[in-house]
Amino acid sequence: MGMEIDLQGKVALVTGSGQGIGRGIAGVLGACGATVVVSDVNAETTEATARELGAALALPLDVTDRDAFNAAIDRIAAELGALDILVNNAGVYREYGGPVETITPEMWRTLWAVNVDGVFHGCQAAARVMRAAGNGGRIVNIASTQAVSPGVGVTYDASKAAVLQLTRTLALELGPHGITANAVAPGATWVNPGEPPPIDASAPIPRSGHPLGDAVASRIARIPAGRWARPEEIGNAVAFLCSPLADYVNGVYLNVDGGWLAE
Ligand SMILES: NC(=O)c1ccc[n+]([C@@H]2O[C@H](COP(=O)([O-])OP(=O)(O)OC[C@H]3O[C@@H](n4cnc5c(N)ncnc54)[C@H](O)[C@@H]3O)[C@@H](O)[C@H]2O)c1
Repeated sequence: MGMEIDLQGKVALVTGSGQGIGRGIAGVLGACGATVVVSDVNAETTEATARELGAALALPLDVTDRDAFNAAIDRIAAELGALDILVNNAGVYREYGGPVETITPEMWRTLWAVNVDGVFHGCQAAARVMRAAGNGGRIVNIASTQAVSPGVGVTYDASKAAVLQLTRTLALELGPHGITANAVAPGATWVNPGEPPPIDASAPIPRSGHPLGDAVASRIARIPAGRWARPEEIGNAVAFLCSPLADYVNGVYLNVDGGWLAE
C-alpha cells in the first residue's frame, strides 16, 4: 500500500461545517482518522451533519462571539483531551457583493465580523490552547481565490486578503512552537443546498445561478478544469496541510481552483 494521510489521534474543529465546504472538510478529516468536531452557527445543521459524519461532538458556535469561541475550544480540550487542528472555514458571501457604492456599513461590518473577526477569534483561542499543551498544532484558514484575484466585491475580496495576511503573520509567530498556519483558497466550489451539482467534467458549466451572479459565472466558464470543485476536494488539501506530510509547510496560500488563477 502507498503512503496515506493518517490523522488518527488528532482532534479537529471545523467551523461552519454544518454544510458546504466545511462539511466536506470535516468528512475528509474524519475519513483520515481524525476525531472531528462539527460546528456551525446553525444548530440544526450542526447536529444533523455531526450525526451523518459520525463526528465526536456537535458544537453549535457563532464565530463572531469571541467568548463563545474561547469556551468552545476549552470544552473540546477538556472533553476530547486536546485541540490539534483548527480549520477556520465559516464565512459569508451571499448578499454581500455588488458595486462599492451599494455596500452599506451594515453589510461591511456583518461580513467582516464573520470572515475576519471570526478567524481571528479562532486563531487566538487555538494558539492559546495549543501553546499551553506544547504538542504543536495545525491552523488552516479558508481564504478564497478572491484574496489575490478580486471580483466578488470590496467587502468579500478585502476580507479574504486580510485572512491571508493574518495567516502569514501567525506562521511567523507560531512556527517556533511547532504550530503551522496555512491558508487554503478554494476556487468555485458547488455548495448550493438542494441543487444538483453540475461538477462533472462533461456537464456544462452554469453561466448563471451562482449566488454571486453572472460576472463570476463568466469567469468560472474559463476554469481550466472545466468544472466546479467538490467540497471534498477542498478537504483533501486541508487534510494534507494537517498531516505529517506537511510538517515543513508553513505560511502558504494553497489554491484549490482547477487552475483558475493560472489564467
Ligand atoms: N463556495 C465557493 O465557491 C467558495 C470559494 C472560495 C471560498 N469559499 C469560502 O469557503 C468557506 C465556506 O463557504 P461555503 O461555500 O461552504 O458556504 P456555505 O454558505 O455553504 O457554508 C458556510 C457555513 O458557515 C456557516 N456560518 C455562517 N456564519 C457563521 C458564523 N457566524 N459562525 C459559524 N458558522 C457560520 C453557515 O451556517 C454555513 O453552514 C467560506 O469561508 C467561503 O468564503 C467558498
